[in-house]
Amino acid sequence: MHRSFGQIYAGKTVLVTGHTGFKGTWLAHWLHVLGARVVGFSLEPPTAPSMFALTGIGKQIEDERGDVQDAAALRTLIATHQPQVIFHLAAQPLVIPGYEDPLTTFNTNTTGTIHLLDAIRHSRLTPQHSALSVVCITTDKVYENQEMPWGYRENDRLGGADPYSASKAMAELAITSYRQSYFHPDKYTHHKVAIASTRAGNVIGGGDFAPYRLLPDCMKALMAGEPLGLRNPEATRPWQHVLEPLSGYLWLGAQLFTNGPRFAEAWNFGPQERRGISTRQIVEKVIELWGSGAWEHLEPDVIWKETHWLAMNWDKAARLLGWQPVYTWEQALAETVSWFKAYQQGDDLYQVTVEQIKRYTACGRDLHLSWAN
Ligand SMILES: NC(=O)c1ccc[n+]([C@@H]2O[C@H](COP(=O)([O-])OP(=O)(O)OC[C@H]3O[C@@H](n4cnc5c(N)ncnc54)[C@H](O)[C@@H]3O)[C@@H](O)[C@H]2O)c1
Repeated sequence: MHRSFGQIYAGKTVLVTGHTGFKGTWLAHWLHVLGARVVGFSLEPPTAPSMFALTGIGKQIEDERGDVQDAAALRTLIATHQPQVIFHLAAQPLVIPGYEDPLTTFNTNTTGTIHLLDAIRHSRLTPQHSALSVVCITTDKVYENQEMPWGYRENDRLGGADPYSASKAMAELAITSYRQSYFHPDKYTHHKVAIASTRAGNVIGGGDFAPYRLLPDCMKALMAGEPLGLRNPEATRPWQHVLEPLSGYLWLGAQLFTNGPRFAEAWNFGPQERRGISTRQIVEKVIELWGSGAWEHLEPDVIWKETHWLAMNWDKAARLLGWQPVYTWEQALAETVSWFKAYQQGDDLYQVTVEQIKRYTACGRDLHLSWAN
């Protein structure tokens, strides 16, 4: 395992914001396995139960509580820990709560990102500093829907009608502005900061208990022995296992560290199945893997509009980073269901999570993917 990602992470101080959340917990585990000194900065876990608490990763890392809306706290954090790599995931990550509380959504996702970038700017005001790679996580929803039949590329226009999508598109503009103004690639030898942003779609995996998401709703219904209510069974989404975009973030972070400004730009990470998989296909496969269960068709909810899914093109990551997804959607679901079965049986979820990371890495190695070797 230590060999993956060019062995960049062993012994490095890596800051993960949003480490108590679903993706952040998986990332903290992976970095810990890779031998990094992981510092987490987040609010409390966003759900109860949470993967963060169930797997006990907080005991293996430096687990700090704080709010990205607090600019001073972020400055102190960076000055105290002097991270060499930062993964910024802290966010209000859901569309419907974004409609209900736009202020918190914009303050967390846009202003919170600016606070982090500004804390980094302040950390460069003293002459002695080592290289810093920053990977900011946004979403595939940052693209303005121009009704294109093909997948959106990194240089397509940003937009986003609902507050969540707009808050992340605004974060993208702030990232570009800080890169152009303070961390310009042409002046890398002076500031030594390489900042990239990443856009990925709907992820699935063990340990997600968030509301308004298909897989958590599905697993909760199956574990309770109740039928799952589906409002839009034919809706398709670009489902991918959580370890897919995380492998992209980690490989990008490693490339930024090794090659500096060459990779300091925006990157899409998408699934193998580019047309998307329908909700009905997902749910029927999950029921088969679980061994029992049923679903029923409910009236569509018309109060809040979910952003229309925009297809995303990840050719750039494939060509320039040598990245590609590892799992089919069926393998992604098998790993997800197996994690929740272990949860229901009361197994050691720390071990289960690490085993899933090792299995994914071994599959990447079988595919001769550069990040896995
Ligand atoms: N899960 C997905 O399908 C998906 C898809 C695309 C993009 N993303 C992005 O990935 C990132 C992680 O998403 P997730 O699904 O793990 O979300 P999550 O809700 O599980 O985790 C969010 C994390 O952010 C922290 N957080 C929230 N507000 C904060 C604040 N004000 N200050 C500090 N920390 C705060 C929470 O404590 C938690 O640790 C987000 O940036 C999200 O927009 C997720």
